[in-house]
Amino acid sequence: MITLGEYIIAKQHDFPEASGELSQLLGAISLAAKVVNREINKAGIADIIGTTGFENIQGEIQQKMDLYANDVFKSALEARGEVCGIASEEEEEFITFDDERSVNNKYIVLMDPLDGSSNIDVNVSVGTIFSIYKRISPIGEPVILEDFLQPGVAQVAAGYIIYGSSTMLVYTTGNGVHGFTCDPSLGVFYLSHENIKIPEDGSIYSINEGNYLSFPEGVKKYLKYCQAIDKESNRPYTSRYIGSLVSDFHRNLLKGGIYIYPSTALSPQGKLRLLYECNPMAFLMEQAGGTASDGFQRIMEIKPSMLHQRTSFFCGSLNMIAEAQEMMNKYST
Ligand code: AHG
Ligand code: MN
Ligand code: MN
Repeated sequence: MITLGEYIIAKQHDFPEASGELSQLLGAISLAAKVVNREINKAGIADIIGTTGFENIQGEIQQKMDLYANDVFKSALEARGEVCGIASEEEEEFITFDDERSVNNKYIVLMDPLDGSSNIDVNVSVGTIFSIYKRISPIGEPVILEDFLQPGVAQVAAGYIIYGSSTMLVYTTGNGVHGFTCDPSLGVFYLSHENIKIPEDGSIYSINEGNYLSFPEGVKKYLKYCQAIDKESNRPYTSRYIGSLVSDFHRNLLKGGIYIYPSTALSPQGKLRLLYECNPMAFLMEQAGGTASDGFQRIMEIKPSMLHQRTSFFCGSLNMIAEAQEMMNKYST
């Protein structure tokens, strides 16, 4: 039985320049995850379900758990003193940690503290997504917006926590994707899924089909392809959509599949956020042997221009994404 802490230390040679910083940082994230997990587990009996009555910067209703998770992760990261700033889906601006110690740190964290939050009220799996970059501004000075607007290819680590039938932390530092399952009686994450690889051909497709009428033509054609009967290619594929990205991603990662959130009438740029959701998931997916694009180009090569930027998102098994992209190029340009 190898714990998350032991594993990170054993793998430190993958990441020599970060020495102990990355393990401290992941330690802070796993501690915050356990606190959030404890609250989610008693959601029905604690006063934490439902909305706050407020909207976030993106005009979305904030759930009580969105704010709670945001506070827990923010405080854990600030207290550990290994990062110089963070940006969160729930915060309008990035946050600078400018005390004497933090300002000399190299790393920043971007996060979606609670993904799929509307699912909490109905006891369905939710998650947390995080992404770690090295700052580009000089050490010793406060962080600047450009530190946060780096393309996904610059990520040094990324991961998610899934608060599901069991709680797992899955991360990559660019050397494969590794999953750890929490033993709730001990509050310890143990290595359970080393070097996860997604099958190149999957048979699950995940999309909110309620928006079908406003999908790009290429997506409509691809969905009809998924539904066509063809024994040789194992079609029709199975449709599975939970409505929390982390959960849909996790299932597809382990079983093989494709996740699509394209542009829709309601969200013409797509709904998912490039910095907090798509880039970290794209990094994990590529490290697991899959791929992620906006339908035309690699997600991690998009140069962000805004913190809360959205994008269309196609993510999953190599051959499924290739097929979907082919349809996009043929019908949606
Ligand atoms: P969040 O709760 O962080 O705002 O994210 C919700 C996202 C994502 O988790 C999920 O895949 C997607 O919204 C679902 O959107 P629809 O309800 O439009 O399908
Ligand atoms: Mn989300
Ligand atoms: Mn969220």
